[in-house]
Amino acid sequence: MTPHPAEDAPAATESYISSSDAHSAHNYHPLPVVVATADGAWMTDVEGRRYLDMLAGYSALNFGHGNRRLIEAAKAQLERVTLTSRAFHHDRFAEFCTELAELCGMEMVLPMNTGAEAVETAVKTARKWGYRVKGVPDGRARIVVASDNFHGRTTTIVSFSTDAEARADFGPYTPGFDIVPYGDLAALREAVTDETVAVLLEPIQGEAGVLVPPPGYLAGVRELTRERSVLFIADEIQSGLGRTGRTFACEHEGVVP
Ligand SMILES: Cc1ncc(COP(=O)(O)O)c(C=O)c1O
Repeated sequence: MTPHPAEDAPAATESYISSSDAHSAHNYHPLPVVVATADGAWMTDVEGRRYLDMLAGYSALNFGHGNRRLIEAAKAQLERVTLTSRAFHHDRFAEFCTELAELCGMEMVLPMNTGAEAVETAVKTARKWGYRVKGVPDGRARIVVASDNFHGRTTTIVSFSTDAEARADFGPYTPGFDIVPYGDLAALREAVTDETVAVLLEPIQGEAGVLVPPPGYLAGVRELTRERSVLFIADEIQSGLGRTGRTFACEHEGVVP
């Protein structure tokens, strides 16, 4: 942070914060910094102070603020066709999905707007696979997750959170989840039953404080899930797309979820 105190320094920040507090729901507790402009990795607040943005929108902005190539591409597409929804095909969708699947090393992709939706879809897919392919009796599918996880804020996802702030007062909760300590392969092995359809994990836990699991953990999870005919769902929403030096953090252990 480079301090550049403006004449009306704290007053401007305070005034923006109190006016947003007056009219926006209090569901988050941001730092008392009001960003006005940004370029690349640098942000400037309403006081003229500059900050090196090491959060990068919780990695939603790994390419930096105001990236010219991306802004030009987005503007050109918005002017060409603004929105089709999925009711129609459009001429860029196939190319986008093909390139994204190739980048991810996967056969198919399903674009989502938020991380929570992606996790919800993974939960639904795993359960359906469990009933239709694995043969789990209807309504009995279980998914093993880790303590201190963060996968989003929907009612199903907070049902298996161990963070009271994320979970308290939002019940009744969605059943079907078993929680084991993160990084503990033996506990995971104990928790898997014939009704387990998936293990859902962050390859590096983000909100928990950037916790890297013990060496061999992810490879062990992959081996165990393969042995027990269970899906391994890796939530790479924080750790993915180059943030750990590989496209996905699972690649550090040669693991494909
Ligand atoms: C690991 C992980 N999964 C899921 C999410 C939820 O993403 P979103 O806020 O886009 O729903 C987050 C958000 O920070 C996350 O860190």
